[in-house]
Order: sequence, then structure tokens, then C-alpha cells
Amino acid sequence: MAPAVVQRRALALAGLAGLAQPALAQMPAIRRIAFGSCSDQRQPQPIWQAVSAYDPEFFIFAGDNVYGGLRRHDLAELQQAYADAAQHAEFMSFISRQRNFAAIWDDHDFGVNDGGVENPFKQQAKQAFLEFWRVPNEDVRRKRDGLYYHLTLGPMGRRIQIILLDTRWFRSPLRITDKRGAPGRERYLPDDDPAKTLLGEEQWAWLSECLREPAELRLIVSSIQVLADGHGWEKWGNFPHERQRLYDLIAHTRARGVVFLSGDRHIGAIYRESSHVPYPLTEITSSGINRSFATAREQGPNRLGELFTRSNFGTIEIDWGTRRLDLALRDESGSAQRQVQLAFDQLRPG
Ligand SMILES: [Fe+2]
Repeated sequence: MAPAVVQRRALALAGLAGLAQPALAQMPAIRRIAFGSCSDQRQPQPIWQAVSAYDPEFFIFAGDNVYGGLRRHDLAELQQAYADAAQHAEFMSFISRQRNFAAIWDDHDFGVNDGGVENPFKQQAKQAFLEFWRVPNEDVRRKRDGLYYHLTLGPMGRRIQIILLDTRWFRSPLRITDKRGAPGRERYLPDDDPAKTLLGEEQWAWLSECLREPAELRLIVSSIQVLADGHGWEKWGNFPHERQRLYDLIAHTRARGVVFLSGDRHIGAIYRESSHVPYPLTEITSSGINRSFATAREQGPNRLGELFTRSNFGTIEIDWGTRRLDLALRDESGSAQRQVQLAFDQLRPG
């Protein structure tokens, strides 16, 4: 493809960010959503063919959508990552046809590996994100800190709320492990310091409002894993008081229909948590589009089945008639490798 054509396609990246909320509500009921994370723009990304063949009505880029570090202590590397992504034939071929999508970042598009509040370049990294994803000038994300965002798709009675959390902008420093690489303590340890935060107060207040809005299904997108335990990489479990606050907020707002989507880990898996939660909560982690950790091994106290360690994307299929959901992790051929079914009626506080 000629570079000029690729450039024009890059400029057409309006996505759903360009549509106003009333237009979203007028969309017909959505039945097929896909998501993915960890797409390295320097490497081939053949899985987009399978995503295209799956033909999702909506796609969620769940973070590490490009790999740009800030090792040079300027934005050059991140800007180069976006420039390379805009020239990436497979990535652009998918995105130029996928009109309805939303994106959030993780550490590699935030610019600092495992980075948080301390990133001195976060304003500039945010600007690069807003430009690449063509976020409109009037969008709320341009008027507040961070990139958290939500939208509701579909008509009354068949509404899907998509809540994209920013797990980077406000996040306090992590507690470093005492045994680097040891199973379960690979990089970080849980930190009970109540002064530490994952979302920050502004985002917590916003989330509390979101969860009170009416919706039949809520996909909460957190780049880092929410429910997963048994490893010492990044996860909500590194801030146990913040994770409990999230569960308590779902209970307090009586928010029905919550399912967590996450990425970051270079593995795929499905998790279920039944303790200290308002109702059994399910998480599907899909990572990555082309970055996978083939030899990954870890404890999975609340994991359903084994890790999936090849390239993958996640899918959510909604049957509004029977009020059931099918969650799946799919491989490069589009075949479901891990699957779980949920009934809407299970997803509500008792
Ligand atoms: Fe990440």
C-alpha cells in the first residue's frame, strides 16, 4: 500500500470517539464485541485477519496499543511508535474498516514501563494518544486529567456500557518485590498503604457516577488485571484496598452486568472471583495481539482453566433473547481456545 494511502487511512481514525452520545444510543443492539491489547508496531500482526473475519460490531483497544518507551527522555520514541503504527499494513487494514471502536492506554503507550503518576511526560504522551486516535476537540478527555472515558451503546433494555479506566495517570508507586523473579513475587508485592491509589479520587468519583447510569451490561476495561491473583506482575491486587473499594462500589451502586476486560500480561486467561464481591465477578484477559509469553507459568487461584500463551483476542457475544453472554479467547485462526458462558441474571447483587 502506498504511504499516502496509509496516511489518509490514519487520518480517518475517527472511530466512535467522533460520535455524540445520542448517536450511540440510536445504534441497534450490539451482539458481538471484540478486544485486544499489546500490539507491537515493529512486528507483524497477522491476527487482525482473524479479528476482521470475526467481524465485531465494536472493538476495544485495551492498552499497549503501541510500544513506545521514553528511554530517550523525550517524546521521540513514542511519536515514532505512533508513526510506525500508522504505516503498519495489518494494523491499519483492520482499523480503517473498523468504524466503531474505543481505546485506552497502558504503560507502553503511557510511555514508561509499569509507569504511574510520576511519569514526567504524561501530558505529552496523552497529547500523542489524543492525536493518534483522533479524539475530537470537544471530547471530555481533553478537558480533564487522564484518559478515562465511558460510553453507552444500544437502545433501552439492550444497553452496553463500556467503561475505560485509566490505570496509569494517577497510580501511586508500586511496592518493589524483595525476590525479583520468584514465582508469585516476580516484580511487585501487595501494598496496603491507604495513602496509595490506583484510580485517584477524581476518577473514583466519575466511576461512581458511571455505575449509577442504567445499563444491562457493563464492560469495565482495565489495562491491568483486576481479579487475577497468584503472580507478582502488575495487577489491582498490588493495591488490595483499592481493589476492595472497586468491589464495594459495585455493591453500593448496585451496578448489574459487570464483566472485566484486561490485557497487559502477554497471556490470555479467564478468571472468576467469588469472595468479598457483590456477586461472582468474571474477568477475561486478552494479551497480546502479537506479544505473547510462550513459556508463562503461574499460580491461578481464581483462574478458570489454563493460561493461553499464544497470540489472542477476546470476544463477547450477547444473546439478548436468552439473556446470556459468551466470553471467549480466540487464536490467530479465530478459534475459541478458552470460553465461558454467563447468564445476565447471575450478574446482579443478591
Ligand atoms: Fe502493559
